[in-house]
Amino acid sequence: MIASADSLATQAGMQILERGGNAVDAACAVAMALGVTEGYSSGIGGGCFILLHMADGRQVAIDGREVAPAKSSRLMFVPRKPTDRTDLSLYSPLAAGVPGEVAAFDLAVREYGTMPFAELLEPARALADTGFVLDEYYASTIALYKDKFATDPASRAVYFDASGAPLAANARLIQSDLAATFRRMQENGAAEFYTGETAKQIAAFMRANGGIINESDLAAYKPQALEPVRGSYRGYDIISMPPPSSGGIHLIQILNLLEDYPLSYLGAGSSESMHLLAESMNLAFADRAEFLGDPAFTPVPTEALINKAYADTLRKKISRSRHLDEPAAGDPWAFLSSIDHHTTHFCVVDEMGNAASVTATVNTPFATCITVPGTGILLNNEMDDFVTEPGKPNFFGLVGKAVNEIEPGKKPLSSMSPTILLRDGKPYFIVGGAGGPRIITASVLAIVNALDFGMNVQAAVDYPRLHQQWKPNRVFVEPEHPFDVRRSLEAMGHTVEVGSARSRIQAIQADSLRGGWFGAADSRGIGAALGY
Ligand code: DON
Repeated sequence: MIASADSLATQAGMQILERGGNAVDAACAVAMALGVTEGYSSGIGGGCFILLHMADGRQVAIDGREVAPAKSSRLMFVPRKPTDRTDLSLYSPLAAGVPGEVAAFDLAVREYGTMPFAELLEPARALADTGFVLDEYYASTIALYKDKFATDPASRAVYFDASGAPLAANARLIQSDLAATFRRMQENGAAEFYTGETAKQIAAFMRANGGIINESDLAAYKPQALEPVRGSYRGYDIISMPPPSSGGIHLIQILNLLEDYPLSYLGAGSSESMHLLAESMNLAFADRAEFLGDPAFTPVPTEALINKAYADTLRKKISRSRHLDEPAAGDPWAFLSSIDHHTTHFCVVDEMGNAASVTATVNTPFATCITVPGTGILLNNEMDDFVTEPGKPNFFGLVGKAVNEIEPGKKPLSSMSPTILLRDGKPYFIVGGAGGPRIITASVLAIVNALDFGMNVQAAVDYPRLHQQWKPNRVFVEPEHPFDVRRSLEAMGHTVEVGSARSRIQAIQADSLRGGWFGAADSRGIGAALGY
């Protein structure tokens, strides 16, 4: 079973499963295809997190997050004079971190896959070479960013037609340079991207256009195989992404806070359960701003933050009937044990019981809107996930602190939360999503909807969402939540803002009655789940 945000990418992975590849092989093919057919969300110019549970019991979290280049500095995005641009962390060559996706999948396939890397790139190469027909969503996304593309000839050559107009729905999108890059990687392996012709082209583009990624930044990139963070919720074991993501920690922390409340009795969408969900999210995001950054640069109290006893102390701040405005961060340090220190999502399971939960991103839609000439590679703008200026909210409105400021070689804090829930050691619920900080809360909701409220996986994904991220001091709700529930939340002190979810979840759930799997791609998007 494969659930991804794009049906062509789901089909690319399905070809691999049907040819006998395992979940990791298929995940690689899906990721590479998504970079072609859903290039505004992720791609080889970006990064990813890959969470794997193998049927033989091995579990790993592979970190393919982008890294701040050696020439980056803490205040590089702070304007010096009033005429300086304020959007360089989003729309300039400086916005890009050193890409990690190719290296991460190369590692994943070498250690856990069964097929050659080159073969897994083939569906993506073919989709780039022969092209595919643009749907309404893709075309409207190009139209939305057309002014940003205006200054980038290499992007215009891809996303605009010969007359200079943005490609419309039903047009064919052909990405010949990107296809050639895939072909070079098929011949020379992942090293092509980091030390080969492709690396040279990226570095040359940077030098000529005010960027700072150079050959040695690319050559130095190493993906990391990490221990997943582990927790539990109502008898299910959870594995998820450790730092430099904040996702796994806060997903587990929110579920720890919720575990004490009778959610199934309170009911889905009731003002009481929505209040408790929002308060738990709020406390977790207060801790996120205070404690979370790249653990290679600052000690992150991971063990304490996911500790159930810590959640018990934090829960005391939650009133059953009154919202707490902008709570201070908690004090997790006491819960550290003395010895232990330590934007697109898709899910794949195979018949052997291997499971992959993968989130990949270039950050915002079409990221920098800059394509490296000759390579077809769209540059990520992951540097905006750092605190680029003290107190300044990032693209997602997140306000962070010194733990997440820019330093050379450091990774920007992420919210991506590829997660697997296990029962009796076997994958039961595989989940994750896109949406910046809303990934954490929307993944929690999918879990709670399935486990507490008894919804099937598609309903659990589609059910109207709420979101609280500490700052701004608001609970965001989708318009489908009834008017009287919104009024009740306001009576408890919440400032309620109605709007779209701005998150997309993909999930797979085991069919515990008959065996097999149910897959769900978020109905808010255009993805597809397929099984065989
Ligand atoms: O790593 C992060 O948290 C963000 N760069 C994810 C971006 C994202 O989900 C975009 N989707 N809407």
